[in-house]
Amino acid sequence: MIIPDGYSDVPSGKTVSIVTHLEMLERPPVRAERSEASWSLSKVDAPDPGWYLALFRRIGEDWLWFSRLQLSDEELRGVLGSPLHETYVFEAQGQGEGLVELDFGVEGECDVSFFGLTPALVGCGAGRWMMNRAIEIAWSRPIRRLSLHTCTLDHPGALGFYVRSGFVPYRRQVEVADDPRATGLLPRTSAPWVPVL
Ligand SMILES: CC(C)(COP(=O)(O)OP(=O)(O)OC[C@H]1O[C@@H](n2cnc3c(N)ncnc32)[C@H](O)[C@@H]1OP(=O)(O)O)[C@@H](O)C(=O)NCCC(=O)NCCS
Repeated sequence: MIIPDGYSDVPSGKTVSIVTHLEMLERPPVRAERSEASWSLSKVDAPDPGWYLALFRRIGEDWLWFSRLQLSDEELRGVLGSPLHETYVFEAQGQGEGLVELDFGVEGECDVSFFGLTPALVGCGAGRWMMNRAIEIAWSRPIRRLSLHTCTLDHPGALGFYVRSGFVPYRRQVEVADDPRATGLLPRTSAPWVPVL
């Protein structure tokens, strides 16, 4: 369906966002980074759903991340346990503070399906450090394309950060979804800058 020009009503109980898809077709130059001795990025094999969801919520609550919250534990184990899916935890001072998920479901490609830090770590250089590691891991595999997407509900700096990382925007979509605060997946107090209507 083509969205008509002008304003379009969004039903109450729904969120709407603009999604930008980005890709890189070759390994980019490494960007300057700062690092701290306590930072690490480690692969987590077959993550425990309870552990994973607690971290996912800490990172994504303010950005209305909901997709993983809709899955049963069994479904989540299936997604995260797939041999084509890799989950990495970013730790600072021994605490899980970030998540990188790499999806190798398409031959020759890698999609960064989730990338984020908890609010306390945003803006201190940990994002650039984590992206440099993610790019290293992804391009150490026989891929020809690395992709990801971000939406206007995500951190406002995310799109620019990805462009500076070497990703090129190539597609824009509108996403309408049940508001996870209206369905009870997230607290009503999440993302107060996006009122529940
Ligand atoms: C998107 C996200 C990962 C970006 O990370 P960030 O923490 O904002 O970015 P950083 O602070 O690491 O880096 C931003 C820039 O500032 C620089 N910087 C930050 N702190 C610095 C410091 N103390 N000294 C020098 N440089 C610094 C970084 O090197 C980087 O530079 P560059 O982009 O020009 O290479 C982060 O905002 C986030 O997790 N947001 C919440 C979840 C989210 O919205 N995820 C995106 C969903 S798709």
